Amino acid sequence: MSRLKLPTIAPSEITPEAVWQSRRAWLKQAGMGALAAGAGAFGASSLAQDAQAIGLSATPNPDFLLLDQATSEKDITSYNNYYEFGTGKTDPFENAHKLQTRPWAVSIEGEVARPRTFDIDDLLKLAPMEERLYRLRCVEAWSMVIPWIGYSLSTLLKAVEPTSKAKFVEFTTVVQKENMPGVKSRIIDWPYVEGLRMDEAMHPLTMLVFGVYGKQLPNQNGAPMRLAVPWKYGFKSGKSIVRIRLLESMPLTSWVKIAPQEYGFYANVNPEVPHPRWSQATERRIGGGFFAPRIDTQMYNGYAEQVASLYAGLDLRENY
Ligand code: MTE
Repeated sequence: MSRLKLPTIAPSEITPEAVWQSRRAWLKQAGMGALAAGAGAFGASSLAQDAQAIGLSATPNPDFLLLDQATSEKDITSYNNYYEFGTGKTDPFENAHKLQTRPWAVSIEGEVARPRTFDIDDLLKLAPMEERLYRLRCVEAWSMVIPWIGYSLSTLLKAVEPTSKAKFVEFTTVVQKENMPGVKSRIIDWPYVEGLRMDEAMHPLTMLVFGVYGKQLPNQNGAPMRLAVPWKYGFKSGKSIVRIRLLESMPLTSWVKIAPQEYGFYANVNPEVPHPRWSQATERRIGGGFFAPRIDTQMYNGYAEQVASLYAGLDLRENY
């Protein structure tokens, strides 16, 4: 992430508002049609067929319907950031088949009344599976629209009864030295660690993800369980989580440790605060081709109505 060189944006690559609006109107109709068909709102456009994949049924949650067109399954599963498998965009797709996802335990510890270790198959049954269409905006200024399957993280956190001291949540992701060629490089002090403030973690948008496009997660997308926090840059959403720790103070997260001047703890999507080495004002939607017009990045990735109140009174330039 920190070695990326982005091309500068030509004015001709910025979408005229009128074109964007009419496209949205068309997509709205298309989206509604899929919902009416009732076969999982977004699964119908699935392209890739993986014989190994295990189906995961879910009910589309209309509260999380977007007008944006979903990115293809092929792009979602072959253009990834998962540095444990290499830093190239296709490295995770090529190398992640070695990841062992069973047996898989997730421990929940720290400031909770009922610390507990869950087996992944029990977590799959903890709450009804919902399909939600979420935007994912990477700090590298590309984005996708992904039909995730899972449920709100708050369901799990409530089950372990956070104490009044719990102010932050830390997520630690797996290290399997034999199976992850990328962990030989020391770009990150493995394991990959991320974190949220308690109110962010309890927000209904913050999702524990177990599947995508009607199937259990492919390894390269963070099997068997990852996070999706759609109003923050993608690096906040840790993959293949093995430990969740509730804490009184802010955890030291991987990217803050590597480059605190570039990656803040909050990492809320904000077109007005550039990364020190590139703008965050626009983004490239994966799937449109490299020369497709860039689109404007929205404050909180378009989720301002739901989350802006969490940051009332906070200086967003200082707390980037
Ligand atoms: N989690 C782990 N364990 N390792 C990683 O390298 N990359 C992050 C995040 N979670 C990463 C991770 C980044 S930078 C992004 S943009 C998203 O995963 C990408 O998720 P996707 O590949 O499913 O689109």
